[in-house]
Amino acid sequence: MSPVTVQVPAKVNLQLAVGAVRPDGFHELVSVFHAVSLFDEVTVAPADALTVTLDGEGAGEVPLDRDNLAARAVELLADRLGQSPNVHIHIRKGIPVAGGMAGGSADAAATLLACDTMWRGNTPREMLRRLGAELGSDVPFSDLGGTAIGTGRGERLAAVASVARFHWVFALADGGLSTPAVYRECDRLRDEAGDDIPAPAPREELIAALRAGDAPALGAAMTNDLQAAAISLRPSLRDTLLAGTAAGAVGALVSGSGPTCAFLAADEDAAKSVARSLEASGTCRTTRVAYGPVSGARVLPRLWNSESGAV
Ligand code: C5P
Repeated sequence: MSPVTVQVPAKVNLQLAVGAVRPDGFHELVSVFHAVSLFDEVTVAPADALTVTLDGEGAGEVPLDRDNLAARAVELLADRLGQSPNVHIHIRKGIPVAGGMAGGSADAAATLLACDTMWRGNTPREMLRRLGAELGSDVPFSDLGGTAIGTGRGERLAAVASVARFHWVFALADGGLSTPAVYRECDRLRDEAGDDIPAPAPREELIAALRAGDAPALGAAMTNDLQAAAISLRPSLRDTLLAGTAAGAVGALVSGSGPTCAFLAADEDAAKSVARSLEASGTCRTTRVAYGPVSGARVLPRLWNSESGAV
């Protein structure tokens, strides 16, 4: 069995509408997912034990034991296919860790596809996504990519056809935010306000802007119901959002549960300029320029391996 490498993108939620808490403790969601060109690469290879190593963005902050979602993905698929879970997983991180960009989910989706390819499991992608949903709400989208509307707890997906390319700037923060903690804070703020919680629904103007490739209209239509909670836990995010807007972004919001902030730019040059201004503002640790949509998890062709001479 030869090693297999899968590339997998980060996501930003163009809309994240959070409904009421369900009996299983999850929130009913409508999430418009959008895959962007920040990638992790996950390589799996047969080994003596299930092990995880990691390099790149945020190395040191990710658990390398069986709590790692990628390790759990190996165990889940190995069990289904009757394979040994003794696999070495190496994760090259380009997606911010605990940043609200589905980095852990991306690694789980990539690991499922990489192991299935290595083991020649020929599991249909739809089935891999269903397995992925057992690991986390965002895992199926990491596999699918593009732009898609997620319902349920975010795992039921319908692709949105859009040919336009959008240009993004991501402002990375120091340290992460815990997704469950942000949901809890959202519930707490809602309890305090005592407002009714409307059933979540996709915004028509957002879907129309996506289809039309209209960046200013998309920027104006983006919303995130977790944003107030993320700002409540990390008040400095307000300054980051203001700095990006002042720099000319046509849309600004916290990505998922944060603390990464996402800025939509009118074009590629505008994105570079927004990134420079954000870095100069001192309101973030660093920035990344990216575009979307991009495709979901995909197996990379094997490169020339100088040690074995194999292609
Ligand atoms: O599914 P995932 O593991 O990504 O979810 C992480 C946490 O986010 C959950 O444990 C839950 O606290 C919260 N969550 C939620 N409702 C959702 C998705 C996630 O409350 N629809």
